[in-house]
Amino acid sequence: MIAIPRMTRKILASLLLPHLLFSPQPCVATSANYSLWMSTSIMSRDQGIMTARGGSSALLQAGITQKAFHRLVGQYPNGTESFAAYIEKSVNSVVPFIQNATFDTSYPLDRLSNGNNLITLSQGTSNTTFFSTVEALRQSIDLQPRNLAGGLWYYVYPNWSYLDGMYSFAPFAALYAVRYNKTNIDTALNNIVLQLDLLWNCCYDNSTNLLVHGYDYSRTAIWANPRTGGSPYVWGRSLGWYLMALVDTLEVLLPYRHYSQWMILKSQFEKLSTALVKVVDPASGAWWQILNAIGRSGNYIESSGSSMFVYALLKGERLGWLVGVQVVAVRAYNYIADTFVDEFHNGTLGWNGTVAVCSLNSTASFEYYTSQPILYNSVLGSGAFILASLEYELLL
Ligand SMILES: *[C@@H]1O[C@H](CO)[C@@H](O)[C@H](O)[C@H]1NC(C)=O
Ligand SMILES: *[C@@H]1O[C@H](CO)[C@@H](O)[C@H](O)[C@H]1NC(C)=O
Ligand SMILES: *[C@@H]1O[C@H](CO)[C@@H](O)[C@H](O)[C@H]1NC(C)=O
Ligand SMILES: *[C@@H]1O[C@H](CO)[C@@H](O)[C@H](O)[C@H]1NC(C)=O
Ligand SMILES: *[C@@H]1O[C@H](CO)[C@@H](O)[C@H](O)[C@H]1NC(C)=O
Ligand SMILES: *[C@@H]1O[C@H](CO)[C@@H](O)[C@H](O)[C@H]1NC(C)=O
Ligand SMILES: *[C@@H]1O[C@H](CO)[C@@H](O)[C@H](O)[C@H]1NC(C)=O
Ligand SMILES: *[C@@H]1O[C@H](CO)[C@@H](O)[C@H](O)[C@H]1NC(C)=O
Ligand SMILES: *[C@@H]1O[C@H](CO)[C@@H](O)[C@H](O)[C@H]1NC(C)=O
Ligand SMILES: *[C@@H]1O[C@H](CO)[C@@H](O)[C@H](O)[C@H]1NC(C)=O
Repeated sequence: MIAIPRMTRKILASLLLPHLLFSPQPCVATSANYSLWMSTSIMSRDQGIMTARGGSSALLQAGITQKAFHRLVGQYPNGTESFAAYIEKSVNSVVPFIQNATFDTSYPLDRLSNGNNLITLSQGTSNTTFFSTVEALRQSIDLQPRNLAGGLWYYVYPNWSYLDGMYSFAPFAALYAVRYNKTNIDTALNNIVLQLDLLWNCCYDNSTNLLVHGYDYSRTAIWANPRTGGSPYVWGRSLGWYLMALVDTLEVLLPYRHYSQWMILKSQFEKLSTALVKVVDPASGAWWQILNAIGRSGNYIESSGSSMFVYALLKGERLGWLVGVQVVAVRAYNYIADTFVDEFHNGTLGWNGTVAVCSLNSTASFEYYTSQPILYNSVLGSGAFILASLEYELLL
């Protein structure tokens, strides 16, 4: 894909929005502070608020919005009260949907992405609803079906596990254990390592040293590799969820950094990051949607996966777990900000280039992934961009 120059993109945006043509308003001033700006824009669109059971990613949209805003408020505590209030609004909006542990298993593992902010809010209130919802989510992990090796099914598909679920599962299971079950920390850590290890072993792609989207333990899915059960393609966003799971879980578990389980996660994080830097697109500096089919016609630079990688790499180097990846991540960040962020005259930012949800309940073929629609303003991408921006802004 050829990068559209910034000015051209602005003109294209105006053409799509005829009422803005010949607008007397001046152009919005450029600023490096995209984290705050994108967060304001997400808020203005009421994204990450659940009003009905919604589509397959509704709980994940809420969860990533909360997590991104939580970091924003942590990094910029002054003047960000409205974002703290919005986290609470988002959490309140999901609570009615996830209070019953048994019912919770009818959602993908993504539901657990709401757990971290539920824990934080539950600790600052006498209202017991938040904590009982935390408990429901935790119990729902025990009720989630598993394959014979102990791998959690991602969703209703028997024996299928996806990288995607780890971003929601691992940081929640880790925070829960650190806050409420320290005496059993080993059990929690072992379960986290088990999930990540099974995915690592079954999804390992030895042509790129990255991980494919998921695996079928029974090896019966039409896409399953007969030896490993793995699906055929390294899908950028699923790898992004996995890499963010690793870096966020390592952070939550810092008090246990001398434990063998922590070192296993760190080793996975280092290996994947090294492999990821090798497959960066030399022309743009960002990453393709399908990472084991780089340059193939139909494939393109995808904005959600690329943002997730930038966040994980910059954070990994900031925390001292990676070396020498910052220059790659900064170049990618600049490309992403120039290419996928649209500045509107009314002061909001738009976000482009994020592929819709890709499911393994499909042929999982190259054509399947590359023919899924590109959504405008998908919060799965813009939320990851906030996380990437927050890391980038720490370098300024
Ligand atoms: C971004 O905005 C926050 C909140 O106003 C401010 O504290 C911070 O200094 C800004 N960061 C940059 C890099 O401009
Ligand atoms: C916080 O913001 C207020 C007004 O917006 C300002 O007066 C104050 O100095 C700021 N505090 C810090 C620590 O930046
Ligand atoms: C406690 O929180 C729940 C969930 O947000 C809310 O529905 C309920 O009204 C709150 N209860 C009280 C007593 O404030
Ligand atoms: C919880 O959900 C399950 C499954 O949907 C349902 O059978 C059960 O009645 C629910 N329990 C409560 C207390 O609502
Ligand atoms: C603590 O962990 C143990 C072992 O995993 C588990 O059996 C127990 O239910 C947990 N306790 C709580 C309060 O979650
Ligand atoms: C690499 O993967 C291919 C296809 O799954 C497999 O046939 C081959 O044995 C693997 N090589 C190694 C060294 O694991
Ligand atoms: C899951 O996989 C196991 C092992 O291959 C198989 O025996 C079992 O029937 C599968 N479960 C379902 C529900 O398909
Ligand atoms: C700002 O402009 C964008 C693009 O026209 C539009 O979609 C959005 O609704 C506007 N937001 C507000 C708060 O007016
Ligand atoms: C989003 O990007 C696609 C692919 O580059 C482009 O065709 C489309 O016009 C863009 N949408 C907007 C609203 O800029
Ligand atoms: C899986 O795909 C089939 C065929 O497209 C569809 O009918 C079914 O609803 C899908 N399952 C889920 C849970 O979305």
